[in-house]
Amino acid sequence: MSTNLHPTFDRMLPREAKEALLGQRGLVVWLHGLSGSGKSTLAHLLERKLHEEKIFTKLLDGDNVRTGLNHNLGFSDEDRKENIRRVAEVAKLFSDAGVVTIASFITPRNDLRAIAREILGGDDLLEVYVKASFETCAERDVKGLYAKAKAGEVKQFTGKDSAFEEPDHADLVLDTEAETEAESLAKLHEVVSGRVRLG
Ligand code: ADX
Repeated sequence: MSTNLHPTFDRMLPREAKEALLGQRGLVVWLHGLSGSGKSTLAHLLERKLHEEKIFTKLLDGDNVRTGLNHNLGFSDEDRKENIRRVAEVAKLFSDAGVVTIASFITPRNDLRAIAREILGGDDLLEVYVKASFETCAERDVKGLYAKAKAGEVKQFTGKDSAFEEPDHADLVLDTEAETEAESLAKLHEVVSGRVRLG
């Protein structure tokens, strides 16, 4: 832990000035759910749709962030915690600058979701559970990871030998087994749209 720090948040140009410039409100849209549940797909579709509507966005995705900022983290309970903590802090930097930030991370446990909530605060966070069962995700197996995990080639795989808890809180649930991609996107877009427009 560092000491002798003198943060000067009070001198910073206020968030409202940036939001006024961009003509939008900053928000973090946090998608959690199993690997293969549809988080990344919905995150990308949402980002493009918002962009077409002139909403300024930033997408943070587990696979990408883990090759850069979080390249030193694995999939132990502790590393997942640090992964989520860092991502929430980064998301906060973006949303404080008025950017609509879409975070797509498995976020497998309720304590991890609580960390994100604590860092970001309720008003700035929209928690979205992208819901699909382990069996469905294993059938889809877009990245081939479920087959690898079954063969014992992926350690600490979420839902297999690393816990995935059903969320005890979500602002929106997108059931990608029951809904089409277009339906899930429409639901997500409607809620986000209502939260990010100014005035
Ligand atoms: S989280 O649990 O810490 O939130 P995160 O979303 O960043 O996970 O990363 C998950 C991505 O890492 C998956 O989409 C998958 O491509 C990859 N991955 C590699 N190993 C594992 C594993 N053991 N468990 C889950 N995902 C893994």
